[in-house]
Amino acid sequence: MDLTLPDDTLAAALEALAADVARSAGRLVVDERPDAVEVAATKSTATDVVTAMDQASQDHLLARLREARPDDAVLGEEDGGATGTSGITWVIDPIDGTVNYLYGIPAYAVSVAAVVGDPSVPGGWRPFAGVVFNPVTDELFSARAGAGARLVVGESQRPLAPTACDSLGQALVATGFGYAAERRERQGRLVLDLLPQIRDIRRAGSAALDLCAVAAGRVDAYYETGLNPWDLAAGWLVALEAGVHVGGFDGPGEALTWACAPGLADAFPDVVETGTRRHLEG
Ligand code: IPD
Ligand code: CA
Repeated sequence: MDLTLPDDTLAAALEALAADVARSAGRLVVDERPDAVEVAATKSTATDVVTAMDQASQDHLLARLREARPDDAVLGEEDGGATGTSGITWVIDPIDGTVNYLYGIPAYAVSVAAVVGDPSVPGGWRPFAGVVFNPVTDELFSARAGAGARLVVGESQRPLAPTACDSLGQALVATGFGYAAERRERQGRLVLDLLPQIRDIRRAGSAALDLCAVAAGRVDAYYETGLNPWDLAAGWLVALEAGVHVGGFDGPGEALTWACAPGLADAFPDVVETGTRRHLEG
């Protein structure tokens, strides 16, 4: 699989495009959020919901990306998408943290990443430009390959960097849980193993923001099983470019995604990979 990245001029232009479309989708999602958000449909389980705004945000992103980049493919969480011929795919999550959106908890984001390779093949793709935008806090986490990661709020911006944590026992660890009861039970057993070995657990409700939280030093590490490419594409790049160690089995993906401050790179992957093999496989 050819994972050669586009040159930095193109990557910078696509990072700017990602920021522009994520901001406009994010404003749409917030401005048109009804007081009582209704569930429009359910997907994998009764608690895996989609609101009208998930679809509206994706339609908006798709239209804007097709207009700007007609030859690129688009892979999104909701219905619809597009094939392309350029070798670049936009991997988009129109609202990551849909349950938070449903309840009005201000931790949801629009995630937009440009990738090379095939996002359906574990280890067979790589993001090179992308953003995660929280429209409630107006925080834009932005990165492109080789150029670092930044947090942009209004006119100000600062480079992102992980914590200096180097002890598993001191680590504040974010995680998340899937929607299927059987998977949640297994994920709970892994948390049970982990809890006595770390400082504490956080479950914020958006994988994209969790990865950015490691990049911003707001938690020391993160792991989750069962993620889709759209949950992790932009957050993976933001974390990597901030200097976070990111991995999984065969790279970040459905089987396992982990991210940690460099000082935890020996202990943390080992403990979550062992726990995942023990509880989530078979
Ligand atoms: C979910 C969120 C959540 C994670 C789930 C994802 P959605 O995405 O990222 O934090 O634990 O695995 O499916 O459904 O809100 O787009
Ligand atoms: Ca998601």
